[in-house]
Amino acid sequence: MKPLIKKLVEAVGPSGYEGAVRELVKKEVTKLADDVRVDALGNLIVRKGKQRPGGLRIMLSAHMDEIGIIATHIDENGFVRFTTIGGVYPRTLFGGRVQFLNGAFGVISGERLESADRVHSFEKMYIDVGADSKANCPVKIGDLAIFERPMIDLGSRLVAKSMDDRIAVAVLIETLRKLESTPHEVYFVFSTQEEVGTRGATTAAYGIDPDLGIAVDVTGTGDTPKGMRMAVKLGAGPAVKVRDGGMLSDPRVVRWMSDTAEAAKIPYQLEILEAGSTDARAIQLTRAGVPVGCLSIPCRYIHSPSEMVDYSDVVNAVSLLTVLLSNPIQLK
Ligand code: CO
Ligand code: ZN
Repeated sequence: MKPLIKKLVEAVGPSGYEGAVRELVKKEVTKLADDVRVDALGNLIVRKGKQRPGGLRIMLSAHMDEIGIIATHIDENGFVRFTTIGGVYPRTLFGGRVQFLNGAFGVISGERLESADRVHSFEKMYIDVGADSKANCPVKIGDLAIFERPMIDLGSRLVAKSMDDRIAVAVLIETLRKLESTPHEVYFVFSTQEEVGTRGATTAAYGIDPDLGIAVDVTGTGDTPKGMRMAVKLGAGPAVKVRDGGMLSDPRVVRWMSDTAEAAKIPYQLEILEAGSTDARAIQLTRAGVPVGCLSIPCRYIHSPSEMVDYSDVVNAVSLLTVLLSNPIQLK
């Protein structure tokens, strides 16, 4: 899966501008699917299987968008000021590079501060795109950019921007490839605008009206020096979400996912995340409500330009999802 992952994480797709990622995914899934469509918000909705007796209509969701910035002001010397798209932290930006949708690159720097060990606020940062006047600045107000960074392969660990959530996009594509037969009607949704409030999944879930929902996204870990107090770690298997900042998973779905992993001898962990949420929240709260769960890929340094996952967790996530979808489901 590594070449597919590299292609996906190096694509440019900030929230609301997922077109390039969508084209990549479409190329991978078209031969594997029974139906492919794009809705008004840009969600790519891929159906596999027809509902048979005992089968459910299931919505899976992995978001295509990534965090980024948007230009708000260009000064007389061509320096670009910006605001954020999604959850961007000032401490992760300084000295980094951005790539605009039109192909322009820039470096993030900032005004001189009183003390050299302070973190710049966004107000004191700017992007230097190599221009020397407003007239020759390749960037216009309203242009979006992402935090440019090629993937590195450390063997079992992979590091890239937008592992959140392209790693899950790769997991859904690979699951679609592996899923030979299913009693369910499965909708693989590659969603938009998750980082700005699960907006794509909200309309996709309303349109699909599923009996069951599973989001696939990244989650934090507690396995770094003096890091978060969290039981999840890299390499110990994908995590079955119990709770996050925006959602309590349906306990029947948690049991079904955990029991299935145990029966199939696939390693897994239980996840309790203190802050943040996923597309599963949007699915759960659509229409009259839907039982949901979430399968998480453990990830260090989330929302930085160097997000790290363990490849074995990715492979095990595909195995678990494939087993989950291949058999009839009895929630209890
Ligand atoms: Co995110
Ligand atoms: Zn995410």
